Amino acid sequence: MTAKRIVSGIQPTGQLHLGNWLGAIRNWVRMQDALGPDDRAFFFIADLHAITLPQDPAELRRATREIAAALIASGIDPARSVLFNQAQVAEHAELAWVLGCTARMGWLNRMTQFKEKSGKDREGASVGLFTYPVLQAADVLVYKATHVPVGEDQKQHLELARDIAIKFNTDLGVEVLVPPEPIIPPEAPRIRSLRDGKAKMSKSDPSEQSRIALTDTADAIRQKIRRARTDPDPLPETAAGLAGRPEAQNLVGILAAVTGRTMDAICAEFAGQGFAAFKPVLADALVAVLEPLSARFRELLADPAEIDSILRTGAARAREVAQATVAEVHDAVGFLKP
Ligand code: TYM
Repeated sequence: MTAKRIVSGIQPTGQLHLGNWLGAIRNWVRMQDALGPDDRAFFFIADLHAITLPQDPAELRRATREIAAALIASGIDPARSVLFNQAQVAEHAELAWVLGCTARMGWLNRMTQFKEKSGKDREGASVGLFTYPVLQAADVLVYKATHVPVGEDQKQHLELARDIAIKFNTDLGVEVLVPPEPIIPPEAPRIRSLRDGKAKMSKSDPSEQSRIALTDTADAIRQKIRRARTDPDPLPETAAGLAGRPEAQNLVGILAAVTGRTMDAICAEFAGQGFAAFKPVLADALVAVLEPLSARFRELLADPAEIDSILRTGAARAREVAQATVAEVHDAVGFLKP
């Protein structure tokens, strides 16, 4: 079996939430814990991606450290995984330039995230927001990632990374870049907002009531679940009966993902009961998994110099691997060797 290269990233644009954890980070930790002797894992805070939208510099620094602390508190071990912030490894941006010359305008025009984030003001969006998926391709290709654990919303970006890798290799007749596989958790591909079952749970939603932050206190978690939107109908006997009830489906899905049970088993247990009976059970389950994490998070955040030092060490380790790929890419393209 060939060695695994696990690579993934997260933007420092707000608090980490339950969607990030169930959709991505829990899988990062599981994959890290299952690393074989020749496998390697790289996890980074995507600060270069964050500035595709306006950011306050002090707030960006704070959020970068906060996400690093939350990742470590969630179980990412900087001794086993390479943990760093993207801007410290210049090869991400360097490779993105070359890959921007491989990617086609038509490919980027099809990216749904650009359409969502630029909204009606396409002309006023930054060029970086448009080429965002090319940088994301560079993020994974620079480490020759084989497995990329993400939520479902990142699938289109990873398909683009595959297309870019294949076109680069084919155009130049080389086998330098490795098309990566997205790893999406079947039990939690897309967690929805607690206020609107049609929207995804998101760091950028202005309402804090829409998401459970990983660092919420037990009281805040209970209160948010109590206020979460539902419908007046009782729970059905099977998960199929949740069709057309996005809020109900989301809450049952969250309990299933958190407890490792099926949605059918949960429906069978609560069949005929209303959400007043279900919600306290969901809140207890969330408090049980998140409370230990938030204590560790606060401890880590109290020492920002230690966080900076962890990220610096991670960046140095990442750079070694990234530099080797960039050298191969430059050689394939025909740049003179330094
Ligand atoms: P970001 O920062 O929006 O989210 C980080 C991870 O959390 C997942 N996620 C969700 N999963 C399930 N339900 C949700 N409601 C939910 N919200 C977020 C995302 O799918 C993601 O896995 N472009 C990326 C960051 C990035 C990246 C990369 C990822 C930059 N370079 C290279 C992988 C590989 C982003 O904005 O994720």
